[in-house]
Amino acid sequence: MENNTSRGQSAREIINITEDELSSLRERIRPYLTDKRYLHTLAVEREVSALGDMFLPEKKGKLRCAALLHDITKMLSFEKQLQYCKYFGIIVRNSDVLSPKVFHAKTACGVAKRDFFEFCDDEILSGVRWHTTGHYGMTLFESLVYLADYIEDTRTFDDCVRLRKFFYDAVSEDGGNKTSRMRALVCTMVKSFDMTIENLISEGAFIDGDTVGARNYFLELIQTKKENELK
Ligand SMILES: [Fe+2]
Repeated sequence: MENNTSRGQSAREIINITEDELSSLRERIRPYLTDKRYLHTLAVEREVSALGDMFLPEKKGKLRCAALLHDITKMLSFEKQLQYCKYFGIIVRNSDVLSPKVFHAKTACGVAKRDFFEFCDDEILSGVRWHTTGHYGMTLFESLVYLADYIEDTRTFDDCVRLRKFFYDAVSEDGGNKTSRMRALVCTMVKSFDMTIENLISEGAFIDGDTVGARNYFLELIQTKKENELK
């Protein structure tokens, strides 16, 4: 995994997370978030739980954990993000400064590992790390956290509503077939990156290279008919 955290070695793998543990995490993250961001975070947890049922039931607890942790540094200032990058040894690329929204995904990993270590393993941290930009070769776990953040049901932005409908319409037609369900997910991922990139272009904003890489990766899976290889 890329530089998602810095200090210390990899976290041990988490096998199971109980409802009581998730409730405790839900309480403990509360001070890290504004009221609005907390409601969004709970909505991402619900959404990723539904996506987990469809695609990765054995990792549903971990997906919910990543959802609860994904925005814990979002309310920090740009200066504080930079301070945390220095503190956690996170490399700041020139492109990060041009696209500052990406910082919180990196610093959230550092803070999660520092303050919520018992809820972190490499997979959970990678879900947090890549929830904003995506990246070429992203995993199914990372994809579900990313998508839940985009389509959770409190989002009212046009693109979010359109993407939510696109995804649920597509999966409702899968007929219980795993390949069609994976195809629906992969097509939704392409569409999400297309919409993000179109918006950034219309605003004349910088596009993070990882976002372009993610879009091309999912397009490649479709064109080579390897949607089932998203693992
Ligand atoms: Fe979020």
